[in-house]
Amino acid sequence: MKVLIVGSGGREHAIAMAVKKSSRVSKIYCAPGNAGIGQIATLVPIKAMEFDKLVAFAKEEKIDLTIIGMDDPLVGGVVDEFEKEGLRVFGPRKNAAILEGSKAFSKDLMKKYNIPTAAYETFDDPKKALSYLEGAKFPIVLKADGLALGKGVLICQNLDEAKAGVKEIMEDKKFGTAGNQMVIEEFMTGREVSVLSFVDGKTIKIMSSAQDHKRAGDGDTGLNTGGMGTFSPSPFYTAEVDEFCKKYVYQASVDAMAKEGREFKGIIFFGLMLTEDGPKVLEYNARFGDPEAQVVLPRMKNDIIDVMEACIDGTLDKIDLQFEDNAAVCVVLASDGYPVSYEKGFVIKGLEKFEGSDEYFCFHAGSALNDKGEFITNGGRVLGVTAKGKTLKEARANAYKATEWVEFDNKYMRHDIGKAIDEA
Ligand code: AMP
Ligand code: GLY
Repeated sequence: MKVLIVGSGGREHAIAMAVKKSSRVSKIYCAPGNAGIGQIATLVPIKAMEFDKLVAFAKEEKIDLTIIGMDDPLVGGVVDEFEKEGLRVFGPRKNAAILEGSKAFSKDLMKKYNIPTAAYETFDDPKKALSYLEGAKFPIVLKADGLALGKGVLICQNLDEAKAGVKEIMEDKKFGTAGNQMVIEEFMTGREVSVLSFVDGKTIKIMSSAQDHKRAGDGDTGLNTGGMGTFSPSPFYTAEVDEFCKKYVYQASVDAMAKEGREFKGIIFFGLMLTEDGPKVLEYNARFGDPEAQVVLPRMKNDIIDVMEACIDGTLDKIDLQFEDNAAVCVVLASDGYPVSYEKGFVIKGLEKFEGSDEYFCFHAGSALNDKGEFITNGGRVLGVTAKGKTLKEARANAYKATEWVEFDNKYMRHDIGKAIDEA
């Protein structure tokens, strides 16, 4: 069958690698993709938000299945556009992708259905938000309602910071219309775990857990980024946590969406915080995490096409989702200066070492080809160097060894991805 993947980052490269392993797939396309994905898929020069062009391409090329990797097109309703034309597509419809698209919606849903999450209030008037903050306990968390590239969350230590935050989000509209509404939330502490799942509207199957490292610098310092590295599984995701979430979070979230008339089919990504009072949901995403996908998908034993089709067809209960009994670590190689400003266009060397390996992977997040056909850097996050190992420690050692195979000017990475493993 022919598969089209929509998106252009390391996550889409990891999805493409999983799709390539399927014996059912004869041809992979990716729109718009990147140079690394171009090694295993035919790149299609259509952007993720050009719904009409994507649909036209899928019809013309007789694509059997389209997989939407990114949040923006899902929240914008790309799945509905494909379905209108009778095309098979993997991902939630617009009325379900709102689970990620609106923090106010997801918080209200959790409150209504007693799904554990931080206490909060929603505001659409900055004056009301400011007067609420006068009497609030600090630190406190401000969240722009809509999609903001993971940057719309501000942790404020005192009233002055919070006032500046309200101005940024609601008045200066730093995150655009995402700031029309705002959630003000209780500050929680604890370890974070990412749990991705496949959902078919009624059944949910959990993937192996992972942990992201969002801050730019070692020791969790510096600015928030899209993610500087991940490991899977998380040793902090214990049997006890799993049992609690199975009872109070996962199925409850799927059922809540169904009850609201917003049947969710696709990926639900639960951002959990393991607090002293038990696990709580920080946020939902409606797609694979990036770079969580880079450590979870290479460990999945199932044919990803079988699982995705079962989600579409409502037969996920028949799938026995299985992961390898090992570990993986992904270290992101970024351009120095990310996430603020950085140079691009440097030649990348050493990529051939990963070719054909089933233990070491180099997922491209931001690469391009120059006119000599060489790979060059083309983004803040450039590559996700991933390695497997029998244990997390072995996977980490392997991943850091593999980061040395790759060279480009301006190469930057964190040196403590997975360090928390030592405390487990
Ligand atoms: P979100 O996009 O909602 O996951 O928020 C991004 C990051 O901000 C999370 O991964 C946490 O590190 C942090 N964060 C969000 N909400 C809270 C909260 N209520 N308490 C503490 N940290 C938070
Ligand atoms: N790595 C976090 C995310 O994909 O949102």
